[in-house]
Amino acid sequence: MADVLLIQGGNPLYGQLKASGAKNAALPIMAASLLASEPVILNRIPNISDVRVLAQILQSLGCKVEFLAPERLLIDSRQVNRTSAPYELGKMMNASFDIIGALLSRFREAEVPLPGGCKLGNRSVDLHIEGFKALGAEVAVEHGFVKAKAKKLSGKYFGFSKCSVGATKTVMMAACLAQGKTVLENVAQEPEVSDLINFLNSLGASIKGAGTSRLVIQGQKELGGGEYDIIGDRIETGTYLLAGAITEGEVEITGIDPQFLEIFLQQLQLANQEVEIGENSIKVKGRRPIAPLQISTAPFPGFATDLHPPMAAFLTQARGTSVIEENIFNSRFMYIQELNRLGSEISSRDRSLMIKGPSKLSCAPVEAPDIRAGGALVLAALRAEGETEVSGVEYLDRGYQHIEEKLGALGAKIRRQKKDAHRN
Ligand code: UD1
Repeated sequence: MADVLLIQGGNPLYGQLKASGAKNAALPIMAASLLASEPVILNRIPNISDVRVLAQILQSLGCKVEFLAPERLLIDSRQVNRTSAPYELGKMMNASFDIIGALLSRFREAEVPLPGGCKLGNRSVDLHIEGFKALGAEVAVEHGFVKAKAKKLSGKYFGFSKCSVGATKTVMMAACLAQGKTVLENVAQEPEVSDLINFLNSLGASIKGAGTSRLVIQGQKELGGGEYDIIGDRIETGTYLLAGAITEGEVEITGIDPQFLEIFLQQLQLANQEVEIGENSIKVKGRRPIAPLQISTAPFPGFATDLHPPMAAFLTQARGTSVIEENIFNSRFMYIQELNRLGSEISSRDRSLMIKGPSKLSCAPVEAPDIRAGGALVLAALRAEGETEVSGVEYLDRGYQHIEEKLGALGAKIRRQKKDAHRN
């Protein structure tokens, strides 16, 4: 029985929330724990279903994985006895692929299903494969799995032909225990990549250049263990700030480095919203009229692709036509027809969305096709007249920790029900 969210829209949201730990840092850091020869303890692990699935994948490989407290996770990979990840679990999310670099580096072999998860477009792995090959691995794609093995990995110079967060993470992990020095050029500079680097360095890796386009990795014989705190989630933060703005309320998020959201916050200011930046917090006060925006998604520090759908929902209330150009994923527009059910006027052409505003939104049953599209539908429902039923909640649960509790704490009228119970 699937869950639905029932959202009574129309009231402004007020209050303060603490950002959860970043999904896109927690998952690769959990995967990187496979490189550790001693146990690791990770703090601020978000309570989302992707974390639970990756925990199961790690357990299937022989890791001990145990929650010591709600957001405190122990991973002990001393007893790993398998290097092949189960297809059924691996296909559930893109992030399962993160384990391949760590397995290859530590055990010199890995078999991981081709990435699954949200259907946002091409999720090719050619850059990962080129990187592993450059380090001396043999790689084959067979029966839906990527199989990599190496007698020995040797440090090399390798330039990515395209900037990829995923490939930066896996190739960097592979280089951690390679012999000698690896130089990676055109790497991703996302804060979550830097968090992974800081974690690996805390285990004894030697990776220099975090936050730049060039990494220099000095291979180590082995990595130790330790305790590490994950950074705050900039995508969750952005979504909840927009919840304040779209409802004409005032929302403050704490436990987040505002630099992670610089371009996003500039855009909110351009849209005539009041933005207050603290040391480790951000407050947004919703104002009218909302000015229309022209946005292009780009690798960090550009506008994050994951904030495009929530921003689109917000811009349905702008006075005039906004344009969002999506440059990272080629089929991220599946949610538009769902959003339009609520009364928005959004059309797409090639890579761009045209959002005509302001639209009067009113309730309808809608279904989330992926995690951040789910965020967009929730935002629109918070603004819409009447009670909107959002299904596809399993997607929201993959990326937003306790969404109904967090929004409820801001005054949203939101509740979760089992679909059948609701129907009866
Ligand atoms: C992307 C986002 C990241 C976000 C994450 C969450 C970018 C650059 N990346 O990372 O910020 O946190 O989604 O959903 O904004 N590609 C290839 N070959 C490869 C790997 C990737 O062609 O081997 C292409 C992809 O199809 C895509 C682009 O490169 O068009 C960026 O991919 P990548 O950064 O790896 O995606 P994610 O890691 O999912």
